[in-house]
Amino acid sequence: MKILYIGSGFVGACSAAVSANSGHETLAYDIDENKIAMLGANDRDTIESCLFEEGLGDLIVRNREHLTFTSDYDKVEEFIEDVDAIFMCLPTPEIGETGESDLKYYNSATIKLAQILASRNTNKQSKYVVIVNKSTVPINMVDQTAEIMKKQGVKNFGVVSNPEFLVEGKAVSGSLKPDRVVVGASSQKDFGIMRQIYRRFYDSTAIKYIEVNPKEAAASKLLANFYLFNKLAVCFDVIGRACETFSDIKFENIRSILTSDKRIGDWGFYDSLYAGGSCFIKDARSLSHQLQSAGQNATIVNETYLANKRQLNIFVGRAQREANFDWSGKTVALFGTAFKQDTNDIRNSPSIDIVNYLMEQSVKKINIFDPAALRWFKTIFPPSKQLIYVANEIEALAGADVVIIVTDWPQFRGLADVLLSGFKGRPLIMDGRRLWQHRYPDLQKAGFDIIAVGGVFLKGV
Ligand SMILES: NC(=O)c1ccc[n+]([C@@H]2O[C@H](COP(=O)([O-])OP(=O)(O)OC[C@H]3O[C@@H](n4cnc5c(N)ncnc54)[C@H](O)[C@@H]3O)[C@@H](O)[C@H]2O)c1
Repeated sequence: MKILYIGSGFVGACSAAVSANSGHETLAYDIDENKIAMLGANDRDTIESCLFEEGLGDLIVRNREHLTFTSDYDKVEEFIEDVDAIFMCLPTPEIGETGESDLKYYNSATIKLAQILASRNTNKQSKYVVIVNKSTVPINMVDQTAEIMKKQGVKNFGVVSNPEFLVEGKAVSGSLKPDRVVVGASSQKDFGIMRQIYRRFYDSTAIKYIEVNPKEAAASKLLANFYLFNKLAVCFDVIGRACETFSDIKFENIRSILTSDKRIGDWGFYDSLYAGGSCFIKDARSLSHQLQSAGQNATIVNETYLANKRQLNIFVGRAQREANFDWSGKTVALFGTAFKQDTNDIRNSPSIDIVNYLMEQSVKKINIFDPAALRWFKTIFPPSKQLIYVANEIEALAGADVVIIVTDWPQFRGLADVLLSGFKGRPLIMDGRRLWQHRYPDLQKAGFDIIAVGGVFLKGV
């Protein structure tokens, strides 16, 4: 089949690569020429320095024969003549702090697309085409997409909702073997086309292939993300907080007791300084906005969002409150700028708020290290006398008065041993991931003060 992707970010590029891997002739378009040049390079490292997703570079290079990246709209126009499906993979960020989805990227791409669709097949529009919403959009979006198409005179089309459930960092393996594929359509014809596109998943007994109407599909995405986000908020703001409040309660022991109950389950049962990333926050805000606009109460949704925000503020504030730590003039070692391990995505990364806070507190210097995401972080915080981007973890530790662990990169786990083997200073340790929890007793004995999420303040002895 011939498939077009509009938007080649995390979702568009990964989905396009999987589509090509399924044997479909795939064109991925994006307005960002730089991104397209990198994704189009026949080189794994270049691709992954643009979108760091394990396996993405290899998958793209291996399926080159079926996959083209372009920023040239003439190519899109040509391709569209006999295209079967067009996947919309555009950003849908929140407008300010209103919760409302900013549909300007989606709408502008859709209007432009509709204009060329209306003149396909020398205006005859004989080829049927399915427009697939893969972006996370408001529940009623299917009607709006159809409306845009009709306004531009597009005929012979269907609108399908096919929400993306990928997990960043595991986007490729997750897209090749998803838990489920959800297709929301209003006609058997559209279901039929989607089954052909997803033949490998439709035929698989290991993957749930769920067909519903378009609004159910769009709603399921928002509700699934809210449910997961809420689980994290409960872990951080209730379970973790209890462990921070009462001494001699180890988060890991509580986890092992609670998760042995199958009804509780173990997904998301960890403590962290913040749940960042591009989806959970934005989707919860959008859900809240849609419920409230319809006159409903969204207290739990809003409180989940606030609990996550509160978590970060509490964590950062503990230095002053519990360790009597004065930030002014201090050197900080900051570990991690990606919002989580295995990605270079810094959207809603807690390190952004932390760096802003540290600068307000007039720290002398922040030594910043991340194995994948520094390039993007520098676009927000250019290097300066105060912000030093270092080449590795050890350099970051030089002269540090405080160490802050932000991202749960596995390679940061062993750094506790560096501090324990003859490190000269005794920086305050702020572990936002409980990454060094196996070493807290040794670190404390060696004289380090420790503030960790999910634990009381440990004074060095
Ligand atoms: N990242 C995730 O983990 C994830 C998971 C599920 C769903 N989603 C949803 O998928 C959508 C895309 O997310 P993403 O993470 O891929 O975003 P992204 O920002 O990584 O990618 C979006 C791309 O669209 C491009 N773009 C903007 N305007 C365009 C236009 N007019 N024409 C062509 N391209 C244009 C941008 O240049 C960018 O490359 C969002 O709605 C998001 O909520 C994301």
